[in-house]
Amino acid sequence: MSNKILECNRQFVESILKKYNYDSHELLQMLVEIQKNTDKGYIDRDTIEFISRELNIPEIRIHSIISYYDALSMESEARYVINVCNGTTCGLMGNGRIEKWVEDILGIKKGEATDDGLFSLKETPCFGACDMAPAIRIGDRIYGNITRNKIEEIIEKLSRDELYPEDKRLSTDNGSLKIITSNFDEYDGMNIIDYIGLGGYEAFNNTVKKGIEESIDEISKSGIRGRGGAQYPTGRKLSQSRAVKNERKVIVCNADEGEPGTFKDREILKRDPYKIIEGMLIASYLTDANEGFIYLREEYYWMRDRIGNAIEKSREYGWLGENIKNSGHDFDIRLVSGAGSYVCGEGFALCESLEGKPGIPRSKPPYVKQAGYLQLPTLIINVETLAAITTVMKNGSEIFTEHGTEESPGTKVVCISGKVNTPGVYEVPFGISVMEMINGLAGGVSGGRKIGFVQIGGASGGILPGSKLNIGYDYETFSNLNMGIGSGAVVVADDTDDIVEYVGTVQKFFSHESCGKCTPCREGNKQLKRILERFKESKGTKEDVENYKRIVKTMEIASLCGSGKTEAVPLKNAMEYFEDDFLKRVVTDGF
Ligand code: SF4
Ligand code: FES
Repeated sequence: MSNKILECNRQFVESILKKYNYDSHELLQMLVEIQKNTDKGYIDRDTIEFISRELNIPEIRIHSIISYYDALSMESEARYVINVCNGTTCGLMGNGRIEKWVEDILGIKKGEATDDGLFSLKETPCFGACDMAPAIRIGDRIYGNITRNKIEEIIEKLSRDELYPEDKRLSTDNGSLKIITSNFDEYDGMNIIDYIGLGGYEAFNNTVKKGIEESIDEISKSGIRGRGGAQYPTGRKLSQSRAVKNERKVIVCNADEGEPGTFKDREILKRDPYKIIEGMLIASYLTDANEGFIYLREEYYWMRDRIGNAIEKSREYGWLGENIKNSGHDFDIRLVSGAGSYVCGEGFALCESLEGKPGIPRSKPPYVKQAGYLQLPTLIINVETLAAITTVMKNGSEIFTEHGTEESPGTKVVCISGKVNTPGVYEVPFGISVMEMINGLAGGVSGGRKIGFVQIGGASGGILPGSKLNIGYDYETFSNLNMGIGSGAVVVADDTDDIVEYVGTVQKFFSHESCGKCTPCREGNKQLKRILERFKESKGTKEDVENYKRIVKTMEIASLCGSGKTEAVPLKNAMEYFEDDFLKRVVTDGF
């Protein structure tokens, strides 16, 4: 087999393979690192051939990974790829204008590159900068609140190989409660001494003192539920995970925050990473796990040094490693990277991704807690849930039960974005009215307009009209509406925004992100996308109105994973509350 890989590139690739011990389970990590650190910005065929030979795996396996993940590429892209976010918030905030401006300035269309290979224009799913919408991403640099002048200046500077100063990603949180987020702005998120000075690692000491049963009881009493969207009681989850006995058990912090409109985990990880590490340490102690991973979404690659520093310092100060503070417990954490796949937020898909494969969900049972990563018992916990565990074990369950409602004690970190005056991350007590969050915390609708509709909980979250927002933001109220709190996203549209266009954006996202394993989700999303495109062009048909219901039902019943089962929730809500907006775009007689 010939190998045409250049010597300098060969040495570089070899160093990465060596770093990962030539272990093919690390293939995804290797590929991400190779692509991030190569001047080319893509993985060429010679490199693939070389990796295949060195790892003794078929080339097709490498191809399948590169083609599955959005962040990996086998094709030459321009030196500067201008990625325009096509997420829900950016859609409301005018991302279409950005594409037109770039087309105008550079004379290229979406998917094209300039003749000199300097720039290309692409659209990309939400990268967690929704508080700065409309946003673009060039490499790992994010630019928000894009105007024509700003994009002109960015392009002008890059043409001279100069970098335009990156926007600070410091989300507003004025008026927030400070419970889970108590350390925000109290230290810089870097210095472990400062974290310890704020009472850091007291929660772990309390856990060891209390013992396992009592600590799990404390967490159960606090009423914490999973904050990634599943809402499963955390105390129960820890108990069930503890009950699975195995010599080798794993904990994964799910930092793959991929729901459009969601950026709270970004803020927690950036401003208080030690709290997450402490939460993982506590969870590992309670479930007898010794290995931990933080699975960080590729879109947050820019945070790797910061999180890596917190892991390293925790190790240096004896909060990770062997026999941690004489507790008899060993635990350590590795930081790993996702590569741009929404479905990897699902438990099994995440395990597959950790194993260096495309992130495709598996059938259940067995469950992740029994046979997840490498078939080992695996506990997957969301970033905010870990922060909540640390908070409760430091202060006692009362810190949660004195806030919120009886069925939804405590607080929730939410991200409010879209047509509001002060988009940002806010910590709110459960039970607060949605209207109060928007008008009180986020400063009301921008431009003095009225609320048109709001999507709550992420891309598959429910949609409510402005007239129905005087409701409590809590599990029981949303469950009665057949909706969920989801990821904590609250995306606000004003009364000029088009609901049909909005759900079209949502459906396009799901159509792109469906992993394709099962037909109802793969084909259903494609069909719904087409139906919505017809409505958008006022070419909807009577059949479309009937067909969408059948497609949605099939997806709900027959999709393999939770993603496919819930993807049509926004469309259903939109049809329920804004039926006229759809029907007036039907061309067939009789409507
Ligand atoms: S429901 Fe969708 S995302 Fe889930 S396994 Fe099926 S195709 Fe993949
Ligand atoms: S960054 Fe655009 S929707 Fe999130």
